[in-house]
Amino acid sequence: MTLAAFCAALADQLPANAIVTDPGDIAPWLTDWRGRWTGTSPLLLQPSTTEEVAVIVRAAEAHGVGLVPQGGNSSMVGGATPPADGSAVLLSLRRLNRLRSLDSDHAVAEAGVILDTLQQAAAGEGARFPLDLGARGSATVGGLAATNAGGTQVLRFGTMRAQVLGMESVLSGGLVHDSLGGLKKDNRGVSLDHLLIGAEGTLGIITALRLRLVPGAGQRGAAWVGVANPHHALALLRCLEAATDTIEGFELIPDVSLTRVLEHIPQTRAPLTTNAPWHVLIEAVTGAAEEPPQQLLERLLGESTDLLTDAVIAQSDAQTEALWRLRHSISEAERAAGPAAQHDISLPIDRVPGFLLDEARLIERRFPGTKASGYGHLGDGNVHFHVRAPAGAPPGWADSAEGKAVSAFVHDLVTAAGGSISAEHGIGQMKKDELARLAPPARMQALRAIKAAMDPHGVFNPGKLV
Ligand code: FAD
Ligand code: MLT
Ligand code: ZN
Repeated sequence: MTLAAFCAALADQLPANAIVTDPGDIAPWLTDWRGRWTGTSPLLLQPSTTEEVAVIVRAAEAHGVGLVPQGGNSSMVGGATPPADGSAVLLSLRRLNRLRSLDSDHAVAEAGVILDTLQQAAAGEGARFPLDLGARGSATVGGLAATNAGGTQVLRFGTMRAQVLGMESVLSGGLVHDSLGGLKKDNRGVSLDHLLIGAEGTLGIITALRLRLVPGAGQRGAAWVGVANPHHALALLRCLEAATDTIEGFELIPDVSLTRVLEHIPQTRAPLTTNAPWHVLIEAVTGAAEEPPQQLLERLLGESTDLLTDAVIAQSDAQTEALWRLRHSISEAERAAGPAAQHDISLPIDRVPGFLLDEARLIERRFPGTKASGYGHLGDGNVHFHVRAPAGAPPGWADSAEGKAVSAFVHDLVTAAGGSISAEHGIGQMKKDELARLAPPARMQALRAIKAAMDPHGVFNPGKLV
């Protein structure tokens, strides 16, 4: 890498404010959200146009400098954290943040538009962007597409991939791929949009997206339900899905995670007056002319009392928001609760309850002193499965020999059950070795061949994914 020549090439072609060199301004972006990885970057590049991104890519290839794309830096897998050896520079997309157009059924948003901004702009048009997650105040649409993010509405609307109608991106050579026109049909070979979705910035830089909007939520209703075990939670989901197509969210929460939220997050309180070992947050959205969701949930939960221990139905939007705040605070509360090995697993949905009960106990027996539990998107077969360290373990326990052995054991169990070691967070640097260890040869061969073909100079997010 010839950094000086790279800088000189950029200084000739970019406005001065696109190149940040002050270490104090760069430092906040060098560590991931969980505080697990810290990298170095001699520069932070912050282009505000697609052409400036193309200039950067051409210069990076000419001078052999790696680029680490970064949106909101909310990655759960160290995907946006640069390597520690200073061999790559941060490329922030946050200033590329214009909403180029918006109407009731789609938006064209630049990569750095923050999810919350898009949601509010859509609401202003009487529409909705149907993807939500706890990092909505920082995650960008570019990051969401690069990770194919999921969240709490996948059950009804699918992952980010289902929301992308078109894309603008800068590929090797600084060439701009543009499918923002939103053609419904375009079979000129493999979809470049879909190659970049979920590629975690390793194949090119996403600069803008054409995104699907859906009609605004007519009437929203939420219920918090206590259940005896995850088998009952899944049976309840099946009952609800058989009776209505209005269920948008179905989140499973073990009591231990709720307790951590109540302990760590100010102004939260338990939704139920009785104790339950497991909880479920359900959201239903119905059209203006349909049965109101509160009534619908009350009726359907009333027909399933054998599956519940208790339930409360939100009576206002404020109460609905308070229930969702509990759910969206779990990541923060889990982070505050001390060292743990975290896993983002998906399984054939019928196997999730057994995994949360039987495999969790198996892991605790195999690694004495650990405590395993999982929460999340039961309706998608996706839980965030955390194995908490034995008492007194140091903060970096997840990266110790024991922490790594725990993760390998969990991933082996998941793989044996026909599941995936990354449901929605991606691979990043956290799971790169585990992907190589466990992915079938056909997948690894294809991923490596695509990477070599799309990134011949090895500049796009080096050291991540493959
Ligand atoms: P970053 O973290 O900055 O980057 C993520 C990856 O995308 C990196 O590999 C980066 O290099 C790449 N990238 C970013 N922008 C671009 C671009 N323009 N072009 C090419 N590559 C790019 N994820 C879920 O799926 N579901 C959840 O429910 C969920 N909940 C979360 C809750 C909390 C509290 C937090 C902190 C995170 C959560 N996440 C969740 C993870 C995270 O929010 C998502 O992965 C999100 O998509 C990252 O967006 P970002 O803009 O922060 O991207
Ligand atoms: C969630 O569903 O809350 C997230 O994906 C983040 C996490 O793993 O905690
Ligand atoms: Zn999640």
